[in-house]
Amino acid sequence: MTPAAIPATLLTGDGIGPEIVAATRSVFEALGTPFAWDEQPAGLGAAEQFGDPLPECTLESIRRTGLALKGPLTTPVDSPMRSVNVRLRETFKLYANLRPAQTLIPGGRFDDIDLVLVRENLEGFYVGYEHYVPIGDDPRAVAQGTGINTREGCRRIAEWAFDYAVRHGRKKVTIIHKANILKKLTGLFLETAYEVGERYRDRLIIEDRIVDNCAMQLVLNPWQFDVLLTTNLFGDILSDEIAGLIGGLGMAPGGNIGAHAAIFEAVHGSAPDIAGKGIANPTALLLAGAMMLDHVGQHDRAQQLRQALRDTLNIDHVRTGDLGGSASTVDYTAALVRRLNA
Ligand code: NAI
Ligand code: MG
Repeated sequence: MTPAAIPATLLTGDGIGPEIVAATRSVFEALGTPFAWDEQPAGLGAAEQFGDPLPECTLESIRRTGLALKGPLTTPVDSPMRSVNVRLRETFKLYANLRPAQTLIPGGRFDDIDLVLVRENLEGFYVGYEHYVPIGDDPRAVAQGTGINTREGCRRIAEWAFDYAVRHGRKKVTIIHKANILKKLTGLFLETAYEVGERYRDRLIIEDRIVDNCAMQLVLNPWQFDVLLTTNLFGDILSDEIAGLIGGLGMAPGGNIGAHAAIFEAVHGSAPDIAGKGIANPTALLLAGAMMLDHVGQHDRAQQLRQALRDTLNIDHVRTGDLGGSASTVDYTAALVRRLNA
């Protein structure tokens, strides 16, 4: 029997958002409509219409469904607007950011990549405690930013990462930090992660690496790593790096997970340089959809979707431009739908 569609909030987002969300809608229809989408406004369009890029109706929907798929949201660098992504994570206390990077197209520069990055999603330098200090007639003579890590926050994400690693049959967790320089801020993270790790010693290898060295090791020999556990800023940077190992941002999904809600998205942003051109790769958002299916226990459908992606990319050789192909978003989506209907 087909399970009833699960209510889930859908945020179209900015830039390439509408294009990749439309693709995702079609592909999920071909999968038998596992989610009953409640489409809600967010981003630049919502800011114009409601005076807030994250209007109350959207928050209310996510509160109700506890589950969302979102397109990318633009955060202008030259405006005081706080990132809508950060606000969503804070509002729903989505403390764990899960970012897997797995090879879908064999034979690339790095083959057989199978990494999982777990990023602390609420603390560190992303708390946004920043200000300018005026000196003389320069109102912005000094810029100051404060990072906050709490023992409780470090413990929570470390437990989540180790539990994840054990549940998914992973062998090793590498804690990534900069405790040689940021001795207290990232030292607390390192120390707490090792403390929590004691309970998992019988099931996991636990080691640590300084972030700059890790960044280099990831391009020299990424296969030495398995699960990467790190703080907010380093996780943001390293997740784009590991996306680069598997063909780029068009291939990298992520989940923001808390006790009461989970929001799935692509790792990439709104890609303003290609927005509206019909060439965006929807794979990352589709893989985020597969993670969402796993999250609700629909592993068969998740596998079906991943297989359709693999077959479309590798057997049908239908690929978007970022992967060296010439398919438009619509062509690629049609090929995926054909695979799912076959
Ligand atoms: P970006 O990820 O949007 O783009 C980086 C590069 O990758 C661009 O050349 C873009 O064309 C390419 N790219 C990204 N996704 C692609 C796809 N699906 N298919 C083909 N090519 C793709 O990063 P950028 O330019 O630094 O940020 C643009 C905006 O996105 C900013 O306002 C930023 O704040 C926001 N952003 C939002 C995120 C989110 O909603 N979770 C995450 C990252 C950035
Ligand atoms: Mg990022």
